[in-house]
Amino acid sequence: MSLNIQVTRTQHPKEKPDPNHLGFGDFFTDHMFVMNYTEGQGWHDPRIIPYAPISLEPAAMVFHYAQEMFEGMKAYKAPDGRVLLFRPDKNIARANNSNDRLCIPQIPEEDMLQAIKAIVAEDKDWIPEGKATSLYIRPFIIATDAHLGVRPSRTYQFYVILSPVGAYYKEGLNPVKIYVEDEYVRAVKGGMGHVKTGGNYAASIKAQMIAAERGYTQVLWLDGVHRRYIEEVGTMNVFFVIDDEVVTPALNGSILPGVTRDSAICMLKSWGIKVSERQIAIDELFEAAKEGRLREAFGTGTAAVISPIGELNWEGNIAPINGGAIGEISQKLYDNLTGIQLGLIPDTFGWTVEI
Ligand code: COI
Repeated sequence: MSLNIQVTRTQHPKEKPDPNHLGFGDFFTDHMFVMNYTEGQGWHDPRIIPYAPISLEPAAMVFHYAQEMFEGMKAYKAPDGRVLLFRPDKNIARANNSNDRLCIPQIPEEDMLQAIKAIVAEDKDWIPEGKATSLYIRPFIIATDAHLGVRPSRTYQFYVILSPVGAYYKEGLNPVKIYVEDEYVRAVKGGMGHVKTGGNYAASIKAQMIAAERGYTQVLWLDGVHRRYIEEVGTMNVFFVIDDEVVTPALNGSILPGVTRDSAICMLKSWGIKVSERQIAIDELFEAAKEGRLREAFGTGTAAVISPIGELNWEGNIAPINGGAIGEISQKLYDNLTGIQLGLIPDTFGWTVEI
């Protein structure tokens, strides 16, 4: 059954930001999608309303025990005016996987897609058309019971908000410098590292601040048990080109299964490039760098797209990568991925979904 979405339009449309100075995550569109959950009743009251502050009990469980999940996707405007989503089915499946881990009730996949399409269609004039811009879609669910005992909430709210964005990193497509974190860990197997929930990011901030003080853009996380195997970078999955092979950490239960990660793997394989998803030790990587076999490194993510890595610092050992310039494979992936997302080249993978 499809959702019967009630629409209340804003009486005060906002001025749109300059598409050349968007940054990431600072501007929000005129409307948002909201739907409530009540135990015994299920998800109900789907609606589009003006974007505005929300009112919650100070005792709402999300504030105390962080029972929440979120997703990140993007909408693009093709030159012919079509509005395109990129692989929304993957984000929606991952959202329900996060819900499962966090004991949040599932939302039927077709309902979540309908909600996302409806709010993007409502605010489609907000899709920026500047270089490397898009409309970032942030669906999230919060636990809203006013209760201080630790248990699953019996009420929730599902929101979808939209933000016109430019590049996530100020470096844009210029390579970022990454600090290999050797004190803190992001997640362990059995925890929540494989799902998208705020706690994973809260856990990352301290290390990120320290890395920033040292002049690095992001941290590269090592596994929480051996402190040796590469997991992911702050807001991205990570890939390395060693000799003629592309390697990326295998999904081991503590790494986020990125949609861009999966897309990059599919694309690389379609070009006949060997891709291995496997355990990668940090010492193996630095050994390869020393021997001149580490040719490229890049991160992948919805927000970050394809982000080349120009330098790694591990316990003071510096590995410069590709002379600090973007590599051939990273550039080709960026061009083809954004080409498909923006409707500039044929989508031979069938990844885009028109609204
Ligand atoms: C995304 O790439 O969509 C993310 O969720 C990263 C975000 C924390 C900025």
